[in-house]
Amino acid sequence: MKKILVTGGLGYIGSHTVVALQETGFEVVVVDNLSNASIDVLVGIESITGKAPQFERLELRDKSAVADFFQSHPDLDGVIHFAASKAVGESVENPLLYYENNIHSLVYLLQNCKEYDVPNLIFSSSCTVYGEPDALPITENAPIKEATSPYGNTKQINEEIIKDTCVASKLQAISLRYFNPIGAHETAHIGELPVGVPQNLVPFITQTAVGLREKLLVFGNDYPTKDGSCIRDYIHVVDLAEAHVVALQRLLDGKNKNSFEVFNVGTGKGSSVLEVITAFEETTGISLFYEITDRRSGDVVSVYADTTQANKTLGWKAKKTMEEALASAWKWEQKIRNQ
Ligand code: UD1
Repeated sequence: MKKILVTGGLGYIGSHTVVALQETGFEVVVVDNLSNASIDVLVGIESITGKAPQFERLELRDKSAVADFFQSHPDLDGVIHFAASKAVGESVENPLLYYENNIHSLVYLLQNCKEYDVPNLIFSSSCTVYGEPDALPITENAPIKEATSPYGNTKQINEEIIKDTCVASKLQAISLRYFNPIGAHETAHIGELPVGVPQNLVPFITQTAVGLREKLLVFGNDYPTKDGSCIRDYIHVVDLAEAHVVALQRLLDGKNKNSFEVFNVGTGKGSSVLEVITAFEETTGISLFYEITDRRSGDVVSVYADTTQANKTLGWKAKKTMEEALASAWKWEQKIRNQ
């Protein structure tokens, strides 16, 4: 049985990926510093898979703690690295936190991968590296634009660090550039747990529907799009989790063509904010209270993936619909509010 380290494995995408790994037959070791995740997520994972993964609370910014961790787990076959700070606004206010958290952690991880001969890495990247794209859908060859936030910059720098390390060592890596993950596991045992007021669209929608927020603000309806609101590629988190397992298997089987590969992970379909609201209303039968307001600074107009590489080269394709994703997000929201 292959043993995989998942950093940030109790977070939103991490926890769904741990489930997918365990269901595929991997042995999983999770580390998380619990800064933005609850220890209860372990129970959720166990409820789905019948087995809690090994867990260690670990601060990846602590170089000696990371070294100690690898020393006590010298038999890892691969790493999936999720642990990172991810709030765009917070990164503008506190860039050094983002540079320390997202850059140091990766460097310490890679140093130990080299030291302990762990050759396979899947990295959690973002479509934010493309900025405002010149052409749609976005292919992996689209230029990397100057980052619009420190958060986005850390993703660009992280990819460069990994790429350079692949050249200079035995490391094989795949960077997955996520579009907009939404939804929850169909059992509602795990899902997204935003701390404080959600910044992202779907948690804000479900919190409004459940009565926690008064109304949803739609950031702009005067964009040059079909209905004036921004377009994104919303992907079910369970499909996204599956992409990690497929990417890891590609490395383990030695099927990768280069030591550093990049794949877009999206559905290939762009949906506007107003379309997401309508889909939520139709799926749940709830009428959502929303208002149009000013544009949000830093938002790009339209972003959706060209998924040809993911489909043909990686052999992965998103299967779930927007309606399934919204229904699962709503089921999860209701569950956590009724606990
Ligand atoms: C952005 C980044 C993504 C990053 C994520 C982290 C891009 C294209 N995407 O996602 O890579 O991982 O931040 O948080 O840079 N909206 C509203 N009202 C709300 C909330 C959102 O109208 O209350 C709108 C936004 O204006 C946007 C859409 O909904 O058009 C999606 O927003 P959000 O969920 O925050 O994701 P992104 O900003 O696309």
